[in-house]
Amino acid sequence: MKVLALAALTLAPLAVIQAAPKPTNFAPLDYFEENCARCHGPNGSFYGTEFGKGLKDDDALRHIVKEMAEGPGNAPLSPENLEILTDFHRSLRDGKPYIVVVEARKSEKCLILSGEATPDSQITLENGKEVVAVKLEGHKWSVAVPPNFDIEKASLRAVKEGKEKRVPVS
Ligand code: HEC
Repeated sequence: MKVLALAALTLAPLAVIQAAPKPTNFAPLDYFEENCARCHGPNGSFYGTEFGKGLKDDDALRHIVKEMAEGPGNAPLSPENLEILTDFHRSLRDGKPYIVVVEARKSEKCLILSGEATPDSQITLENGKEVVAVKLEGHKWSVAVPPNFDIEKASLRAVKEGKEKRVPVS
């Protein structure tokens, strides 16, 4: 069983991963700002509303992101981080806000989650029972998870101009 699973993994790298793993320990918006924004604008704002229309499918999107990272961006990405940056581009393509969990830290008293999101979106941490408002400054957010908050089934939600994106926390 184990061997089979491993073989399957080797044969189908990444193609099946649609959402970024959480937390990523990679900050895609910082990366974009450093390596891509001088040509494509802050948070990809110069891509324009037609962005993605000329790209055949998801593979084509991943492919151009990879080429750009290795070429003009001059900052090659690991397969995991390529997938995360591609996921950011999916949000741009689909006209949706973006959100990602970059770090989870345990302090003495509580769990602190932080990450990145599309500027000016409304961020909340939700678990079906409780909703916690999350502070977003620029493209950085962080939240101290309340001690009794059930994090197991929690998700983070970003809303902007009526569009939303949700990512699981764990
Ligand atoms: C020196 C300028 C420059 C830098 C830096 C740069 N790009 Fe590009 N990018 C271009 C140009 C020019 C094109 C259009 C021509 C092409 O497709 O090769 C493009 C095209 C793209 C496209 C396709 C756009 C569309 O409308 O289909 C994506 C996606 C993209 N770049 C992502 C990135 C990412 C991600 C980075 C950072 C790792 C990056 N680029 C860095 C110049 C740049």
